[in-house]
Amino acid sequence: MTLQERITELQTRVKEMKASNLSEVEELRIKYLSKKGEVSELFNEFRTLSKEDKAVFGQAMNQLRQTAEARLNELKEVVGQAVSKAEVREDLTRTPDPIAIGTRHPLSLVREQIIDIFSRIGFTVAEGPEVEDDKHVFGLLNFAPEHPARDMQDTFFVEKEEGVQQPTDVLLRTHTSSVQTRVMTEAAERLRTGEQQSIRVLCPGRVYRNEAISARAHCFFHQVEGLYIARNVSFADLRQALLYFAKEMFGENTQIRLRPSYFPFTEPSAEMDISCHICGGKGCGFCKNTGWVEILGCGMVDPNVLEACGIDSKEFSGYAFGMGVERIANLKYRVKDLRLFSENDVRFLNQFVAC
Ligand code: DAH
Repeated sequence: MTLQERITELQTRVKEMKASNLSEVEELRIKYLSKKGEVSELFNEFRTLSKEDKAVFGQAMNQLRQTAEARLNELKEVVGQAVSKAEVREDLTRTPDPIAIGTRHPLSLVREQIIDIFSRIGFTVAEGPEVEDDKHVFGLLNFAPEHPARDMQDTFFVEKEEGVQQPTDVLLRTHTSSVQTRVMTEAAERLRTGEQQSIRVLCPGRVYRNEAISARAHCFFHQVEGLYIARNVSFADLRQALLYFAKEMFGENTQIRLRPSYFPFTEPSAEMDISCHICGGKGCGFCKNTGWVEILGCGMVDPNVLEACGIDSKEFSGYAFGMGVERIANLKYRVKDLRLFSENDVRFLNQFVAC
């Protein structure tokens, strides 16, 4: 074949190149235009020609390369369009494959439900630090200096930093009652001037106690504290708020019973039982045949606490209550082992859905 014939033959072939996808177009590019491609090889030969021959074949050679490039570009476009057409042809109304979504943690569900119930009677949420000081966890709450709760056995203390002056001991809070003291101290001035009439807060959060971990105890758990301070708050107000809560949480037929108890920060203090929601109060294994199960501690805020936080106890009175979120979750879902709440076993966690 003469050079002219080879040019013509190649010209025909590149003009008729066909491809149905982008990788085939690329294959063709390699076959003809890459360094070792047929068109490039022909150019290598062309370079060796005499000046006169170069003048004869030059135009045809350039034509050949342009044809190859143009055809490849054309193919690229056609094939690209085919792809986007195929995409558009997908049925956008088709129900997608279900995506497995997570579930809420049972403790979050219960905490939210407690907050939701009390928010309907005017409570808002207040939060405080988990790493606290002795003053807010014990001192302002009327704990005597020698109170056993302050003991290393119960409380995790944060090691003192050498050479740093600390006004009081730093520790992990053992109850969310510490948030009460922060809220009261902060609002005291406004209550005094009349700028604020009352305090009505819920304090949810994590608390820590130095306990050996078992099915029934853990070194951390969760509480929701409630505090209501205003003029003329009575024990009857406390009882009514708690009865409302119990019925909302455990059902309309739930009854409550308040037993005298002792907490340093409330006077009088009480523990509240609800009628066993499993046997309806008749007595069963769950309530140890008493018909009642304990759910929280409560009482009227001790005047000493009000005064320590800067609130005039002759003007203001209030009630407080505190409950364990795990305890309520156990009653609702009958979880026998407390450790399940913090082990993150998805087989356990998957069982809970918002109610
Ligand atoms: N702080 C108590 C505890 O951790 C719970 C408690 C009891 C909170 C009575 C209160 C209360 O506000 O009035 O065991």
